[in-house]
Amino acid sequence: MLTSLPAFSSLKKEYQSLKKTNMRELFARDKQRAEKFSIEYKDLFFDYSKNIITGTTLKTLIKLANESGLNPAIKAMFSGEKINTTEKRAVLHTALRNRSGRPVYVDGKDVMPEVKEVLKKMKAFSDAVRKDKTITDIVNIGIGGSDLGPKMVTEALHHYAAPNLRTHFVSNVDGTDITEVLKGIKPESTLFIISSKTFTTQETLTNATTARNWLVKALGEKAVAKHFVAISTNAEKVKEFGINPDNMFVFWDWVGGRYSLWSAIGLSIAIAIGFDKFSELLDGAFAMDEHFKSAPFAENIPVIMGLLSVWYYDFWGARVNAVLPYDEYLRKLPAYLQQLQMESNGKSVDKQGNRIRYATGAVLFGESGTNGQHSFYQLIHQGTQMIPCDFIAPAISLNETGDHHSILLANFLAQPEALMMGKSKAEVLAEGTPKDLVNQKVFTGNRPSNTILVDKMTPFNLGMILAMYEHKIFVEGVLWNIDSFDQWGVELGKQLAKKILPELQGDVKGRVKGKHDSSTSNLIARINKIRKKGLK
Ligand code: F6P
Repeated sequence: MLTSLPAFSSLKKEYQSLKKTNMRELFARDKQRAEKFSIEYKDLFFDYSKNIITGTTLKTLIKLANESGLNPAIKAMFSGEKINTTEKRAVLHTALRNRSGRPVYVDGKDVMPEVKEVLKKMKAFSDAVRKDKTITDIVNIGIGGSDLGPKMVTEALHHYAAPNLRTHFVSNVDGTDITEVLKGIKPESTLFIISSKTFTTQETLTNATTARNWLVKALGEKAVAKHFVAISTNAEKVKEFGINPDNMFVFWDWVGGRYSLWSAIGLSIAIAIGFDKFSELLDGAFAMDEHFKSAPFAENIPVIMGLLSVWYYDFWGARVNAVLPYDEYLRKLPAYLQQLQMESNGKSVDKQGNRIRYATGAVLFGESGTNGQHSFYQLIHQGTQMIPCDFIAPAISLNETGDHHSILLANFLAQPEALMMGKSKAEVLAEGTPKDLVNQKVFTGNRPSNTILVDKMTPFNLGMILAMYEHKIFVEGVLWNIDSFDQWGVELGKQLAKKILPELQGDVKGRVKGKHDSSTSNLIARINKIRKKGLK
């Protein structure tokens, strides 16, 4: 158990001694601090010097990683062991971007030939769609991992997208989502991509059925073959839905939904930016995989990131972290990372089935800079809780326009500095602040952050950043001894929604047949009453 490891006790002491130290002092004491606590890998520069750590903290955190078996855990993941123990599955999103030529085995079978086969099919298909001038709109219908990844990446790499193609994403079962998309497109020039690992997800099948009916109404049943493709692990369900398995792109149960953008689920990305650029995205992720696999822990970016999380959540009591990209193209990154981090590590039972008594998985939120500065940064600077932040920016903008990027970068640098330095009472007084306002204007500082700088937002660099977060989350999961690759916590709500649905569809007299708590029963009755009146 994490808390009974020797390094855990050492870190408790380390926390007690650092509790009263301010990062300002740490910087003043050591002129080499920035250099010491930063790592450069290809075009990515990771500065973690603005964290409440010393060399001893880092060494002890690495000791904790070793005592937790991080090294064998990394090897186990990359070599296809069934580390998703509750679902008895291998975890091999890394195989999808394996450019090494090395085989990867699952149950004694090399999966690389199949991976390459699907990539080949994706290339042929995306090339053909990009050449086919009759198709102007691509609509990806999927939810969770079958939506967030491709949606975020197509936006992040929009700069590289074909100008004659528009990409849309429909995820919500709220009819507004599909209605608004259908309003702006024409059946004859639209390609629907139905993305669902299981092909049983209620939201996706509901949206896909609505889209299918809309297309068939305009162009007839035969048009489905040309205008619909599916991406799934479930050929039977795809066929049942009415999509010819020839128009299907497969992936495998060893790819987790939230780790699937590298698989055929990335088809909308490949169509939007072209297969070559999609390949560069995979190259970047592979580069980060190699770094994660081989760099010593003290020089390993995802390892350090994961260890810092454990440091703040399990010793300092932090419960939330923020991801703050200073790049408008990355504005959907926080939403994507929310699923990646919170669905992966929001667990309170360990791998052996025991209830956990230490903090796991943090709440993640974020917004692009500088927008967030004018919204929630107040709480990060002066609130009562510690919120470790990741600041991310490209040094060169894809849209260099006047002074815009220098202004953006000035803010990107100012925020972590302000969080770390703060402003003391003496400094506030020296500014001539009236006495009754002094406390309001004090910034305690000593608030931790990482700064992640890339040269430019290329597909390769984005691939590195995304794989970096995947592995950071993996590191946390190993130290917390949880299965980061299952998601049992999403099931109960789905079950109850299925039970409630007929009570909303059938009996609109206000009576509730199902057994519920009184609050839910009242709400069902009230909704039925309103709808009965309003839908007449
Ligand atoms: O409900 C959660 C979830 O299972 C996610 O893990 C997954 O990404 C999403 O639903 C969509 O699942 P599918 O790709 O099977 O439709």
